[in-house]
Amino acid sequence: MASLNDIRSTFLNYFEKQGHAVVASSPLVPRNDPTLLFANSGMVQFKNLFTGLETRDYARATTSQKCVRAGGKHNDLDNVGYTARHHTFFEMLGNFSFGDYFKEEAITFAWELLTQEFGIPKDKLLVTVYHTDDEAAQIWKKVAGLSDDKIIRIPTDDNFWRMGPTGPCGPCTEIFYDHGEDIWGGPPGSADEDGDRFIEIWNVVFMQNEQFEDGSMKPLKMQSIDTGMGLERVGALLQGKHDNYDTDLMRNLIEASAHATGVDPDGTGKTHHRVIADHLRSTSFLIADGVMPANDGRGYVLRRIMRRAMRHAHLLGAKDPLMHRLVPALVRQMGAAFPELGQAQSLIEETLHLEETRFRQTLDRGLKLLDDELLALPEGSTLPGATAFKLYDTFGFPLDLTQDALREKGREVDTDGFDTAMAEQKAKARAAWSGTGEAADSAIWFDILDAHGATDFLGYDTETAEGQIAALVMDGAEAQSAKQGQEVQIILNQTPFYAESGGQVGDKGVIKTETGLARISDTKKSQGVFIHIAIVESGEISKGAAAVLEVDHARRTAIRANHSATHLLHEALRAALGDRVAQRGSLNAQDRLRFDFSHGKALTLDEIGRVETEVNAYIRQNAVVETRIMTPDDARAIGAQALFGEKYGDEVRVVSMGMQAGSGRGSAGSTYSLELCGGTHVRRTGDIGAFVLLGDSASSAGVRRIEALTGQAAMEYLRTQDQRLAEVASDLKAQAADVPARVKALLDERKALSNEVAQLRRELAMAGGAGQGGEAAGEVVNGIKFVAQVLSGVSGKDLPALIDEHKARIGSGAVLLIADAGGKAAVAAGVTEDSTGKVSAVDLVKAAVAELGGKGGGGRADMAQGGGKDVTNAQGAIAAAKQILEG
Ligand code: ALA
Repeated sequence: MASLNDIRSTFLNYFEKQGHAVVASSPLVPRNDPTLLFANSGMVQFKNLFTGLETRDYARATTSQKCVRAGGKHNDLDNVGYTARHHTFFEMLGNFSFGDYFKEEAITFAWELLTQEFGIPKDKLLVTVYHTDDEAAQIWKKVAGLSDDKIIRIPTDDNFWRMGPTGPCGPCTEIFYDHGEDIWGGPPGSADEDGDRFIEIWNVVFMQNEQFEDGSMKPLKMQSIDTGMGLERVGALLQGKHDNYDTDLMRNLIEASAHATGVDPDGTGKTHHRVIADHLRSTSFLIADGVMPANDGRGYVLRRIMRRAMRHAHLLGAKDPLMHRLVPALVRQMGAAFPELGQAQSLIEETLHLEETRFRQTLDRGLKLLDDELLALPEGSTLPGATAFKLYDTFGFPLDLTQDALREKGREVDTDGFDTAMAEQKAKARAAWSGTGEAADSAIWFDILDAHGATDFLGYDTETAEGQIAALVMDGAEAQSAKQGQEVQIILNQTPFYAESGGQVGDKGVIKTETGLARISDTKKSQGVFIHIAIVESGEISKGAAAVLEVDHARRTAIRANHSATHLLHEALRAALGDRVAQRGSLNAQDRLRFDFSHGKALTLDEIGRVETEVNAYIRQNAVVETRIMTPDDARAIGAQALFGEKYGDEVRVVSMGMQAGSGRGSAGSTYSLELCGGTHVRRTGDIGAFVLLGDSASSAGVRRIEALTGQAAMEYLRTQDQRLAEVASDLKAQAADVPARVKALLDERKALSNEVAQLRRELAMAGGAGQGGEAAGEVVNGIKFVAQVLSGVSGKDLPALIDEHKARIGSGAVLLIADAGGKAAVAAGVTEDSTGKVSAVDLVKAAVAELGGKGGGGRADMAQGGGKDVTNAQGAIAAAKQILEG
């Protein structure tokens, strides 16, 4: 019997032989479709190839696409476990032609594969075509020899496939398998078509039109093919089963669940095992594709599926968390076809284990409350919405989990009442919110949150994605559109733009729609709503439009390197200075990083050197940077660094990097850096490139601040430093290595020379000054010996020492010195101790200064100084001083 893995290979190999490129499944979170929660068919990743927006180096492709149908428009969650063919996760096999082959080849390939490769008897197959598609009907007749009654014309949208309200579309032909008269049901288009006898196995779409928002449809430039065949469905058929859950792959998962719980796979626990097998697949694949459990958006869909499975595990009597124990069985079944599953195995196990451990704490009590409520209610009545809300709010029961629990009892929930209770709680939260006072228009984000929910952040995995514009805000009020030149805040349902937080700056980039382009200068967030601060550069941006979002890649790359380097720096500081070093703040910008930490004194050169060396050693280690989600308590228990005083939610992201080198503080091989962090990081530490510590300064009392560079900026800095050194070396005519010694020698020499110059100047001045040619003249005025001199070649600061020398020389009397300082005048006067009773040096200076175009002057009675604008009237100044002496 061919296994599902064999069937997948047969399909892909067949189309490879027909010249198709075998393309890997795209991730479950679509990058290029803003309206889609999860990939739900094979063509999603090729959307832009059909419309001609994008070209690749192949015109034929084949895939086995991972699909999830839960939470969005296609929501099969409620039915899983109870029906034969519903799944939250399934694989869609497909072949695609992008303007290459069309109807005839597509039908020929499909018929050949089904009847020859898969060996399905021809008489078991019948097809439908769109009622006007004579061409397809003719081809079926020709290629397959089907009689007219086996080519059923369908006039409804069942045979006109659309991707969504807009996008590529076209008529399709569907291939059905007849399970035989023993099973009830009629052919497609008949009144009994919903029966189980005729099962659709393959949909072949002739992509030829594009649907637009206004309802109009235009022919596409090229005619293409998109097909979809559910692997589980065709697998059941080929394995002679009627139920997808009886195929080998699903059966192996069900048996793993039976083995782990000790409960018969086919007894009363049958439904539970089926739910667990299905949900194990969707949750594991979602986690492998980067979705993490959360309270909104995609993360909440994941949480709902997880918790639903966990209730069924509980109903099987599992005493301990179960789901994570089944992951190895899934990896055995599907890991070869989807390597991402094995790569993420420990993350999947850990995430499932954490969720189940936590949910078990409230599950029992919640189920008891539910039972008590039901007992108290009249037979058959609906469960009040308030009770369902209490189960949601207090016990973590997603609404569909409660509905699932009630389904077994034939009861329902009053969903309107649930919605009312939810709205009341939101209103209370809003009333209680006082705001940070930062943004005057903060209340508007609550309205937007209520109307559109929190923004889904895709930026851990991608820097480009499509989003749908949920709201535009201009001048604090919502707007319908923004025109060229206008400033606008743009809110989308999802975004790859990182919003400023945790020290990491917000992303910049562009947002493009069909009608315009806006440049994003910053991204912030409020209440979980990401706010893209933008200016419309061309055209017009409108609410509701689909937009392509592109983060400035080079800038984000630099920011990522700086942020990861900050983590390494933090750890290196703890290693160098001790564990008391605690982060006080940080900035991870494009051009540099800054890290503030508690430490009482400046770092020594040796410490700086050790920190820089250690960070670079861990960069060269090139270790993978890993992220996990944990409770804050678990994160602290494993030693993760958290920011002091910061409030953390129920779950935190823990970023780890590097492996202890052995000589470090932790045991060799243990994780080097472990921090709670919501930021974006490099994939491997080697991506940081290089780290240069610029220096350390005081930020505030007891807090030091380090600034550093990484990557390209670090290299440019080192290059500039090198160039400067080379210039100095060349001026000194020395080798770079000798520069420090040479500079030191020059400085010593300079100091000796300047001492010598000062000494010579004084001697020269005492000898009469270079400009005066002779000794200072002395005379006796009013009984006081008075020496006055005009000097050049000395500066104002040399004057006091000269005054002292003159005073010593004359023994008793007064001295006035005027220095010619480049045309300006510096004045000093001195009076010996014994004469200060007769005259004050201050008065002498003041009188002289007044003659030199200056004002004031000051000091003590024995020594005073001042200055004037113009030295020309030096003789007038001396005369004025003399007048003071004369009294
Ligand atoms: N895109 C088509 C489908 O999903 C093939 O049915």
